[in-house]
Amino acid sequence: MNILVLNASPKGKNSTTVHTALYLQALHPEHTFTVLPVGQRIRSYEKDFAPLRAELEQADLLLFSYPVYTFIAPYQLHRLIELIKADGVDLSGKFASQITTSKHFYDVTAHRWVEENCFDLGMNVVRGLSADMDDLLTGRGQREARDFFDQLMFSCEHGLFITPPARAPEAERTVYQPQLPAAAKTKGKDVVIVTNCAPEDENLRNMIADFRAALPFDSRVVNLREFPLAGGCLGCFGCAVTGKCVYKDGFDEFLRTQIQSADAFVYAFTIADHYTQSSFKCYDDRQFCNGHRTVTHGTPIAYLISGDYRYESNLRMIVEARAEAYLPLLDRIRQTGVTCILVHMPFHMAIFDPGAAEDIFPQFPEIEHWYMAGHLMGGAMASQFASGHPDEIDGLILMGAYIYGDYPDENTLTVYGSLNQSVEDHIDYTENIVEIEGGNHAQFGNYGPQKGDAPAAISAQEQQEQTAEAVEAFLNRWIRTEKAPLRGFFSACRKPPRRPEQRESRGKRGRFGRILRDRMCFLHRSVGCGAFLLRNVRESSERN
Ligand SMILES: Cc1cc2nc3c(=O)[nH]c(=O)nc-3n(C[C@H](O)[C@H](O)[C@H](O)COP(=O)(O)O)c2cc1C
Repeated sequence: MNILVLNASPKGKNSTTVHTALYLQALHPEHTFTVLPVGQRIRSYEKDFAPLRAELEQADLLLFSYPVYTFIAPYQLHRLIELIKADGVDLSGKFASQITTSKHFYDVTAHRWVEENCFDLGMNVVRGLSADMDDLLTGRGQREARDFFDQLMFSCEHGLFITPPARAPEAERTVYQPQLPAAAKTKGKDVVIVTNCAPEDENLRNMIADFRAALPFDSRVVNLREFPLAGGCLGCFGCAVTGKCVYKDGFDEFLRTQIQSADAFVYAFTIADHYTQSSFKCYDDRQFCNGHRTVTHGTPIAYLISGDYRYESNLRMIVEARAEAYLPLLDRIRQTGVTCILVHMPFHMAIFDPGAAEDIFPQFPEIEHWYMAGHLMGGAMASQFASGHPDEIDGLILMGAYIYGDYPDENTLTVYGSLNQSVEDHIDYTENIVEIEGGNHAQFGNYGPQKGDAPAAISAQEQQEQTAEAVEAFLNRWIRTEKAPLRGFFSACRKPPRRPEQRESRGKRGRFGRILRDRMCFLHRSVGCGAFLLRNVRESSERN
């Protein structure tokens, strides 16, 4: 079979993801693999698509290889899909699949987006492989890659393809006409409407105009198509070190002065290729240059979306989950009398701002006692922060996560779903562990399913209910005993003590973490969901 690997990572041959494809190539000399660094060649394909068209026509199977970037694929792959569709090259009947690496944060939506576009092109789509960044270094990861390939070949041979989702019915589209009453403007607030509205896009233009008329504040429009972006994010992480992007196209400055200064953001776009025209994705990815903090940090945002949003369930998941992932759980914990502070993380990944708590403490000088909590890698970041700041943090609450660093387990509550085996395997301590029967990994948040996660046997509501109860019990006990060691607590759920060799492995993991930190690679290891902090008001009021 002729397999064309479309390596859409901006890192080209240094891509983590493409190494899985290269590994499969080495194992399968019976197939012809062609690996193209399309992510790096996007500019040249814009000028001349013919060389890529020839490769696409010869291929039997297109294997998309790319990193997950900001909930979907990197800009480079979005642009590639646009070029393929604009060229009209016939890919119908060809096989398509995909390999990604990521920290599994919105890898599901990335995969669905590629699948949706392959369906548009009439391709036969086989479920892809979503690997963790360092999976290929492990025996398990290598086995999963081999299994994936075997299944892929079997599916191509026997016609086992994914069924495309329902499409929006063909309908006559009427152009939106302004209809809202104009409002008098109140001075003092600056609302910025960030859009990629094309000059001929009358529908979106009218929506924006109507919104601006009805808005009781002054507003301005920033059109991303007019900004001369030199290219997509290169994934080099240079900005994480220097706070500046390696491109010299002025985007940093534009972001700071034209966008970030606003009091509220409205993102306005027309749905295209199941997201929107690629300049918007370029903007999404390039926001990383903001010292790895979201531009929208603590600022109200809204969306104006033109198109058949009802039929774009994947896009809906992205837009809606960005806003709401942890609010239901926090609201449930809040009902137990605990004030919760959700700390916005750059791109919802705690790794990009592991020290965020430092900015929170001074804002609440009256509070003496803090607990820090987090889910997934948000938990890893929370425990890393707590280990480094033992005087500032009284306790740690981990959900679907385990202690990462040197924080005492007697000061830590660890809650995980019984179906989340990978977390259980890493817990090599015995204090304060609550296993939620039938719970899984993703249901601590409301961001939808997560690749590699087992389906839960209980609802998300039930899982979060039990989590809130565990947190309440942990904090109550803590207050009563005035920081007495929590031995014996949650004894009904306590796990059996680990064997000595398992304790040994914890020491190794700790060292591994430090080595990685020295190399600055810890960023890669610890991409994860948003961390959040808990402030126990009852405790502080008792003390006051
Ligand atoms: C701009 C940017 C955005 C990212 N967004 C996500 C994300 O949404 N979810 C995730 O799990 N990982 C995310 N990551 C991490 C990458 O998916 C991960 O580093 C990937 O393994 C890189 O693969 P590559 O070396 O093949 O480019 C992001 C990284 C960068 C630089």
